[in-house]
Amino acid sequence: MTAPLPDITTREDCERLVRAFYGRAMLDPIIGFIFVDVAKLDLEAHVPKIASFWETILLGAQSYGGGAFRPHAVINAQVPLRAGHFERWLWLWRTTVDELFAGERAELAKTHAERVARAFHARLRMLDAPLAAGELPVLTITRHGPEP
Ligand code: HEM
Ligand code: HEM
Repeated sequence: MTAPLPDITTREDCERLVRAFYGRAMLDPIIGFIFVDVAKLDLEAHVPKIASFWETILLGAQSYGGGAFRPHAVINAQVPLRAGHFERWLWLWRTTVDELFAGERAELAKTHAERVARAFHARLRMLDAPLAAGELPVLTITRHGPEP
């Protein structure tokens, strides 16, 4: 019998999760090139930022300032991010979470990633779509979670 997996409880857990995810995502045959060749991601600079993002969502820290969407709009201008890219991202994320952690926070890490992916994809489609005559552009700003 292997020991049951722990839940995500510390920033170190968030970092471990994020490192494991990027280790896999950067080698991925479907989306790896976006991190490696398009964004030329500096992992050491990136990991603390993404760990803060998850620490804010999962552990109630307020270490992430927001604005996660914008860099994806920049990437999307170079490589259009399609539903299949988001599906792959989510599959890699769920697989990594399930390999390392189990529990309420681990579940939240998976459901919140799905919400964000859906919102990002919808916003990108809106940016890409030409407006019909007379139609007004819509930008939804979400602000939620505990009050600062
Ligand atoms: C304690 C609970 C929650 C916390 C701390 C939290 C935190 C966050 C943070 C930090 C972001 C990134 C914002 C940015 O980068 O600008 C985000 C994005 C998002 N969250 Fe949550 N969240 C929580 C609950 C929820 C719930 C309950 C829902 C929906 C039912 C939700 C849906 C979303 C969506 C759709 C986005 C993406 C927004 C966008 O950029 O279009 N979140 N959340
Ligand atoms: C097709 C799927 C996705 C791709 C290819 C992708 C790619 C990237 C890349 C290349 C960056 C770095 C941009 C830069 O700094 O140059 C980035 C940043 C980031 N991504 Fe994604 N991403 C995807 C989906 C998601 C999803 C679903 C989430 C959240 C659940 C997410 C969260 C973030 C955050 C928090 C940052 C850091 C933003 C900041 O600088 O504050 N990404 N992403």
